[in-house]
Amino acid sequence: MSKARLALAGGGPLVVLTGAGMSAESGVPTFREAQTGLWERYDPTALATPEAWRRDRDSVWAWYRWREHLIASAEPNAGHRAVARAASDREVVVVTQNVDDLHERAGSTEVHHVHGSLFAHRCDECGAGIEVPPPPAEPVARLAPPGCPRCDGRARPGVVWFGEMLPSRPWDAAVSAVSAASAVLVVGTSGLVHPAASLPGIAADGGIPVIEVNPGPSAFAREVTVHLRATAGQALPALLAP
Ligand code: APR
Repeated sequence: MSKARLALAGGGPLVVLTGAGMSAESGVPTFREAQTGLWERYDPTALATPEAWRRDRDSVWAWYRWREHLIASAEPNAGHRAVARAASDREVVVVTQNVDDLHERAGSTEVHHVHGSLFAHRCDECGAGIEVPPPPAEPVARLAPPGCPRCDGRARPGVVWFGEMLPSRPWDAAVSAVSAASAVLVVGTSGLVHPAASLPGIAADGGIPVIEVNPGPSAFAREVTVHLRATAGQALPALLAP
């Protein structure tokens, strides 16, 4: 912990790169752990694809609406709150792969969602934003997405699926923030999904210290200056305390 605090010291701009593990202690299941209930037979990484959408739109929509319900009923955890609090002492830029809004609800104001947002529904044809009713409070196996008021398309989740391009605005902001950071804190990501997983390498190449918080293994090795084997909720309050 003291090595990690030393690497973070200095008060310059801090980038916090987060993945699904950041929200795990809020009760949001990560992508690569087994699912429970209605979805236990499904692989989330197979549902999050344009092919799955074309093949079985109603199942994919039902699954995403269930995640929306789960997230709306979840609360930010001690890790999210510690990241938000740290912004009172220094510039903190959050770059998240998460499609939830838990960083914002904890009080972080500069948050770049490189994989989109679960709550920004848009047309799968013309891309226009679409308002949708609240998600069902119980999981359902299939649900038809509402139609687009402008064209023949359907509402789709505003997230980035495997094989899709990242939205350029948050991605460009993420690369600039990492390049200008005095330290990068990487929390709860397996480091398997590119290009987000290349951000710690950009920092390391520029001589910027990279501190990783993850209770398990990840794909990061040479990029990481200090590794804390702890959960976000355990490590971040102490790590980011003034
Ligand atoms: N605190 C910190 N890290 C944790 C915790 C916790 N409480 N619990 C689990 N982890 C770690 C795991 O050890 C794992 O390394 O979080 C990581 C979660 O990995 P993934 O589920 O692969 O999530 P992520 O890296 O965000 O996935 C990247 O893949 O499916 C796509 O678009 C989706 O954004 C997602 C991307």
